Amino acid sequence: MKGKKILLSEEDIPKYWYNILPDMPTQLSTPLHPQTQKPLTPDDLKIFPKAIIEQEMSSEKEIRIPDKVREIYSIWRPSPLVRAYNLEKALGTPAKIYYKNESVSPAGSHKPNTAIAQAYYNKMEGVQTLTTETGAGQWGSALSLAGSLLGIDVRVYMVKVSYNQKPYRKSMIHAWGADVYASPSNKTQVGRNALEKDPNNPGTLGLAISEAIEDAVTHENTNYTLGSVLNHVLLHQTVIGLEAKKQLEMVGDYPDVILAPCGGGSNLGGIGLPFMRDKINGKDVKIVAVEPASCPTLTKGIFHYDYADVAKMTPLLLMYTLGHNFMPPSIHAGGLRYHGDSPILSQLRKDGLLDAVSYMQTEVFEAGLLFAKTEGIIPAPETCHAIKGAIEEAVKAKEEQKEKTILICFSGHGHFDMSSYDTYLSGDMKDYEYPEGKAKEALEYLPEI
Ligand SMILES: Cc1ncc(COP(=O)(O)O)c(C=O)c1O
Repeated sequence: MKGKKILLSEEDIPKYWYNILPDMPTQLSTPLHPQTQKPLTPDDLKIFPKAIIEQEMSSEKEIRIPDKVREIYSIWRPSPLVRAYNLEKALGTPAKIYYKNESVSPAGSHKPNTAIAQAYYNKMEGVQTLTTETGAGQWGSALSLAGSLLGIDVRVYMVKVSYNQKPYRKSMIHAWGADVYASPSNKTQVGRNALEKDPNNPGTLGLAISEAIEDAVTHENTNYTLGSVLNHVLLHQTVIGLEAKKQLEMVGDYPDVILAPCGGGSNLGGIGLPFMRDKINGKDVKIVAVEPASCPTLTKGIFHYDYADVAKMTPLLLMYTLGHNFMPPSIHAGGLRYHGDSPILSQLRKDGLLDAVSYMQTEVFEAGLLFAKTEGIIPAPETCHAIKGAIEEAVKAKEEQKEKTILICFSGHGHFDMSSYDTYLSGDMKDYEYPEGKAKEALEYLPEI
């Protein structure tokens, strides 16, 4: 029998996260204060614990993973690297397709890799409650899991369209003892304002972020956590790429192409940055962000300072953006409906080191179903994007009769997304193209910096 899974032992759970900041060819631009537009100081970031603020700006290439965090990681890590033989066969491709299966975590995605770390540092600094936003519900459930394992309360603002699409994400969050509200909610001023303007507002990640921040700054001993975008989040996610690299070494392989779905960039950063380090040093590896055509931040956005949220409460970050008030259509990959992107990935894209493609949601679900029928696992709608990208690469390899090694981040399973699969299977799913030139309109709302 051919080996299907490449497995590491618990001893192999990485002891250090990889911090790309000191290796970046162009250093990141300083985040700016949202009101004064002056460079941000650690004092401006009081909604985060000190250890996280240090990581956000660290110049150390390797940051030690606390023992307690490794111990919790061992519930599901190291995650398997799996060879998708059946998918390869169905495509008739000479390419090898590997997927790093992050869906094996208790919450069903890569998100607990950073949720555990963030909850740990907050707990160490005596914080009692954490607030956050969630799009697809994956991040909210991951943080609820972390809160439950580390003894910290969690309040989640879940984008309303996902809240309605995925009632069992809500149940999962409750099962781990956390609270969850549909955003926009009447719990915050930002939410009440949005509801007054439009009682049917479906919500966006940018709006839910504003609500979670307002909640944190208006309550004692309460901190805010973000599940993507920021440097420390990508840092924690590098366990994915560090493990995958070791697993590929075990079978004498190295990827030609790495693909991951990209919302704010955390799973792409997680799998991609340890390989990006090689690329910066001259290695030939293509790293690709796969986005929805309806919210194509890296493919069609503008590289500009912008807010990470709708209410302009977050620092200004230099990133690719579609504008903080862009309201993406209510597509089924809720975790990819975000106007901005990670500053690290944005800078790498600007420097020509990161590729980006975008696809329509129906072709993405078609790819996900081919994966489910050949490899067995039903992917999250976000994950289907990477699968679609991998299929395109594998078909190209077939046309060119080239051997190629493709690595994807299987960021999550779709067990709570079955209503989206139903919509696709009944033929009711619609495609949305981001209108050409719309990004220029967003420029009107961007701060002049
Ligand atoms: C399964 C899954 N994949 C990918 C993403 C996109 O997030 P990020 O770009 O931070 O990895 C999400 C976000 O919720 C998700 O739930």
